[in-house]
Amino acid sequence: MNKVFFVNRSLPHPLPYQGSKRKLAPLIGEYIPHKIDTWYEPFAGSIAMTIWAASRDIAKRYVIGDSLEPINHLWDAIINHPQSVSERYAQIWEGQTEFNPTYFNEVRSRYNAERDPIDMLYLICRCVKNAVRFNRHGAFTQSADKRRLGMRPEKMADAIKSVSSLLKGKIEIRSGDWMDTTSDADFGDYVYLDPPYLGTSIGRDKRYAHQMEQDKLIEGLESLISRKVRFGLSYDGMTGGREYGPALPESLGMTRLLLHAGVSSQATLIGKKEETLESLYIWPSIATENNTIIFPETSRQASLAL
Ligand SMILES: C[S@@+](CC[C@H](N)C(=O)[O-])C[C@H]1O[C@@H](n2cnc3c(N)ncnc32)[C@H](O)[C@@H]1O
Repeated sequence: MNKVFFVNRSLPHPLPYQGSKRKLAPLIGEYIPHKIDTWYEPFAGSIAMTIWAASRDIAKRYVIGDSLEPINHLWDAIINHPQSVSERYAQIWEGQTEFNPTYFNEVRSRYNAERDPIDMLYLICRCVKNAVRFNRHGAFTQSADKRRLGMRPEKMADAIKSVSSLLKGKIEIRSGDWMDTTSDADFGDYVYLDPPYLGTSIGRDKRYAHQMEQDKLIEGLESLISRKVRFGLSYDGMTGGREYGPALPESLGMTRLLLHAGVSSQATLIGKKEETLESLYIWPSIATENNTIIFPETSRQASLAL
């Protein structure tokens, strides 16, 4: 199969998704090894880093998975049936008109009854902040963003075709918890982890829940380290000097990088201009003085165990 390279143009992204690493991908990519047997992205979402990795052909095969089952179905459809997904998306998208304010809700009801992944693609493209919300029965509950129509069918068809040609025949799509998705990762493989931010993902008793969630994450990281699986973990960060997540223990022996993610859109909304730094923990670590590097830093590839 022909290899597809995207050197001088932006990468294809059919799935707009809140929390996507699309913009940060080149920065994170600076710290990713070039020779990988199997690449894993077990918190898949819009698989921004997998698309980045495949565009550079850095792994022999790719494994993705998400605990949100419909996302896995959507990726399977996009990668393995690109033509029919594009046609169906165009049909759904063209069904909307300015004069039909209930159209989004009709598609949402249909998705909730039939669970067609292409209906979900349209819903994600059109919903508020591209942020998926489901109730405990798996029904899509997010509302329409009334200010936009969602990605145009021609652009969507291009993105779908490109992602499919990058990944078809090389990818395995799993489902469920990240620790199950990566249970067979081994020396020579690489895992990119982007769990939901603790501050945003958990309900009422945040302190207790944070501790539990962090303990579980640490257990999984320890398992990867014991198997000598290289990994990168995007994990919280800071805006305007305020940290918004608990740091991970130094005993894991990771290096914490702080990547400039740009100006915070939340701060801009209230009239402030604040830089956001995103944490990227990497293992194996890079030798540094205080175990923290602020990007850009010069000799990174040389010091990574590639
Ligand atoms: C921050 S998003 C990942 C975004 C992704 N990096 C991208 O570029 O779009 C986190 C994802 O992890 C999924 N998730 C949450 N808990 C999970 C778990 N325990 N195992 C696997 N996936 C999980 C969520 O459904 C969500 O899609």
